[in-house]
Amino acid sequence: MIGIDFGGKPILITGGLGAIAEHIVRKLVMAGATVILVDIRSEEQAQQTLGAWQIPSSSYLYFSADVTDSSMLGHVIEESFERFPGLDTVLGHAGGCGLHPFATTSEAEYERIFLFNYFAQTYLARAVLAQWMDRKIPGHLIFTSSYVARVPHTQVPSYASAKAALENFARCLALEYASAGIRVNAISPGNVAAGSSLKVFDKDPAYREFVLRVSPMGKRNSPEAIGDAFVFLCSPLASEVNGQVLSVDFGIGVGYRL
Ligand SMILES: NC(=O)c1ccc[n+]([C@@H]2O[C@H](COP(=O)([O-])OP(=O)(O)OC[C@H]3O[C@@H](n4cnc5c(N)ncnc54)[C@H](O)[C@@H]3O)[C@@H](O)[C@H]2O)c1
Repeated sequence: MIGIDFGGKPILITGGLGAIAEHIVRKLVMAGATVILVDIRSEEQAQQTLGAWQIPSSSYLYFSADVTDSSMLGHVIEESFERFPGLDTVLGHAGGCGLHPFATTSEAEYERIFLFNYFAQTYLARAVLAQWMDRKIPGHLIFTSSYVARVPHTQVPSYASAKAALENFARCLALEYASAGIRVNAISPGNVAAGSSLKVFDKDPAYREFVLRVSPMGKRNSPEAIGDAFVFLCSPLASEVNGQVLSVDFGIGVGYRL
């Protein structure tokens, strides 16, 4: 029998109160992890959300912070290592967008979406890698990408470009830090029946038609399946995986139904 028991292992996740994060957090905690959650929502909102998810208070630590503010994020990372000096697994999961056609999206909004989905991940990586190098920790950094990094999609040009950049960033870091024993991977969900895309899917018939048409199996992914992939990648079962993008997308990333 193969089982996964994180035995109290600390795992940090940004965007930890989101729709997909719910299932990642639930599954990591179910497998025995202690989660350090970073999200822009207030402490009070976090308590309510985590209470509704039935996550015991002994299984999490919460930081209210904006991941696009490198200095605020840097303090959160420093404090996380003070509390958990052996922290070796960090999930750069915060991200997302609404529809933003290029022609009607302002320059400022376009850049804000790119900042949130790409540069904020580089801020996280910079802060965490500095700690791992100083402390000689062979850590594992996992970003959340999206199938649109590889399957061009209308109405999300900044987001899709940011996720494509993020995947290549992960591969660059994987090579650069391999000699320190540090691994960098990404998980790439297909269109998930949760979060911001759910709202767009429900509201926009053209988007709905596109999503179902390009999915080789004609359906969207469940947030639970994304949670399972995180449990696997965080576990010793994946200890030799480095520089990879693990797609959980029913094969949508292959793109043959485009
Ligand atoms: N939903 C999908 O179909 C889908 C598909 C592929 C990839 N993804 C990716 O999965 C991840 C989660 O997506 P989701 O749909 O669950 O999103 P979501 O909107 O439900 O969750 C995002 C979380 O990030 C938090 N957040 C927003 N701005 C922040 C900031 N500046 N600093 C810190 N936290 C901030 C929000 O409060 C929220 O809890 C994202 O990286 C997204 O790009 C989602």
